Amino acid sequence: MYFPHLPNTETNQKRLELLNQKGIVVWLTGLSGSGKSTIASGLEKKLTNQGYISVWLDGDNLRCNLNSDLGFNQKDRLENVRRAAEISKLFVDVGIIVICSLISPDISMRRLAKTIIGSNNFFCIYVNSDIDVCMKRDVKGLYNFARSGEIPNFTGMGSKYTPPSNPFLELDSSKFTETESVETLYKQLLPHLERIK
Ligand code: ADX
Repeated sequence: MYFPHLPNTETNQKRLELLNQKGIVVWLTGLSGSGKSTIASGLEKKLTNQGYISVWLDGDNLRCNLNSDLGFNQKDRLENVRRAAEISKLFVDVGIIVICSLISPDISMRRLAKTIIGSNNFFCIYVNSDIDVCMKRDVKGLYNFARSGEIPNFTGMGSKYTPPSNPFLELDSSKFTETESVETLYKQLLPHLERIK
């Protein structure tokens, strides 16, 4: 019979002291083109400059490796989120700040992520940008493809996006610059970025 190994709490505590920080997950949700990745990248830079160790997990990137077997139906999206949340949890347990940028379009997906990670360590950020603005930006040209019917289940068009009803923070990327959004986010997170020593 196989028994999983239990986490070594003493080692975990020592590791947190070594890192002098507590792991949390900053989970950015929003439409494609809303600015999640830009804000995530900016936050990663800001945290690093402030002496925090963080890691950025992006939906687009994960879909090139760990999640390359997944598509965009509901089941696959849920699995995509589940895997991202499980990796985040591993990082959090060793004291690393995780920035996740995934569309994670519905409540059940974000709820699953929160359950896996733990509600105390999960900070849901809604990157809100009007779909017309996202379509206009269309950085990857995907809205154009979706419009011509080549991506039938594109989020916000053929597939629904439900915004979080009670996010930790909402950032409107059509009103604020990247720097403003990153600064606002960092300031809001600061009380939760406990130093151990
Ligand atoms: S999620 O819905 O499962 O959370 P995820 O964040 O990993 O999505 O990936 C979204 C990215 O995949 C988009 O930014 C876009 O580049 C690409 N993509 C390809 N097809 C789709 C689609 N049908 N809907 C949304 N994004 C898509």
